[in-house]
Amino acid sequence: MGDLLRFGVSMDADLLAKFDKLISKRKYVNRSEAIRDLVRNALVETEWQKESGKGVGALTLVYDHEEMRISDRLLHAQHEHASDIVSSLHVHLDEDHCLEVIVLKGDLARIRRLADNLIGNRGVKHGKLVMTTTGEGLA
Ligand code: NI
Repeated sequence: MGDLLRFGVSMDADLLAKFDKLISKRKYVNRSEAIRDLVRNALVETEWQKESGKGVGALTLVYDHEEMRISDRLLHAQHEHASDIVSSLHVHLDEDHCLEVIVLKGDLARIRRLADNLIGNRGVKHGKLVMTTTGEGLA
């Protein structure tokens, strides 16, 4: 971590009022912490736009396990990319539906492709990749 520096920010009063409302809703202790989070978020998003580098993500998939051998297909794809998968969690939501949370870590482009491939499987009702970071280089 570097030195702590202070700087002034000029902002339209209405925009600042909305920002303060958001800060209070999200339970930030002060504006500085909220701004730091916004900056970190933007940095992580930029990281994911790179062609190469390391990334971490959590993929959630909801599917009907009765659908066209989907469990087999998803499992097969995960075994093929075992080196990019850190862990996975399977929850039987009800009689038909399963939720899978798969933690991916590895080359950004590769894990994004893997996530797209898993989400694109026929029978997946909802899939979302939460792109996060290894935390390296973020103060
Ligand atoms: Ni299940």
